[in-house]
Amino acid sequence: MTSTVVASLADLAPGSAMTVMVTSDSGATVPVALVRESGGDVYAIGDTCTHGEVSLGEGDVEGHEVECWAHGGRFDVRSGDATELPAMEPVPVYSVSIVDGAIAVDVDANIAVTKEN
Ligand code: FES
Repeated sequence: MTSTVVASLADLAPGSAMTVMVTSDSGATVPVALVRESGGDVYAIGDTCTHGEVSLGEGDVEGHEVECWAHGGRFDVRSGDATELPAMEPVPVYSVSIVDGAIAVDVDANIAVTKEN
């Protein structure tokens, strides 16, 4: 498990999201949506909406949720859970660390805690 620096905290304003590509330990390229909620906390989730092939890094951030621009599906960035239809399946949540203003993500550590249905 390796953390990779992907962005500067200064480049991710509160209430915004962006897409970054991260290489896993196996060499796979993993698209990740970095989301900074309005309070300033940063989360990293799988970038691809589970309803379609749409980038969540291009979505709108409201509170602890990111909304897919295509059809309005929403995801809780803390758990990865889909919170609004038509999205139903969760996205992975990755470990984030911030050191000296640099955001690092570990895509080999899916820390999602999906609620029981
Ligand atoms: S593609 Fe994201 S809600 Fe439909």
